Amino acid sequence: MATNRTFTMIKPDAVENGHIGAILEKINTAGFKIVALKKTHMTKNDAETFYAVHKERPFFGELVEFMTRGPIVAAILEKDNAVEDFRTLIGATNPAEAAEGTIRKLFATSVGENAVHGSDSDENAEIEGNFHFSGREVF
Ligand code: RTP
Ligand code: MG
Repeated sequence: MATNRTFTMIKPDAVENGHIGAILEKINTAGFKIVALKKTHMTKNDAETFYAVHKERPFFGELVEFMTRGPIVAAILEKDNAVEDFRTLIGATNPAEAAEGTIRKLFATSVGENAVHGSDSDENAEIEGNFHFSGREVF
């Protein structure tokens, strides 16, 4: 079940810059079905919990500050090979290194403010989807 789902967030920079529609269009065109979707605003505690794996990294404080400065759009996406295919669609963490046509190449501004999140494993996709959505919000 989890193997064909991934979790994404359109991050505050891309929401501020008016890219929600364009990013959802790229997701649709790439063949992902949106099975859950909402606009929400993460609290400091939410961001610290969501990105806990990075808490020892030097950019952690900056990351939490960034992810909480405005609303995000959270979504669960379904497609064969969803996690890997979505990471390909979004491109490298640093937009300067992202392939042409990827979401980060098109919409990200820096390594910190990089427009979208994509789960890095099936296990994390399930944990992250459950963090943002209840069962009644997934169809
Ligand atoms: P994400 O988890 O958001 O999909 O990004 P990712 O896997 O490509 O990158 P990851 O290593 O998990 O880093 C998480 C997020 O932290 C911010 N970051 N800032 N200033 C920096 O050097 C730096 N490095 C990472 C980015 O927002 C990155 O997406
Ligand atoms: Mg990551």
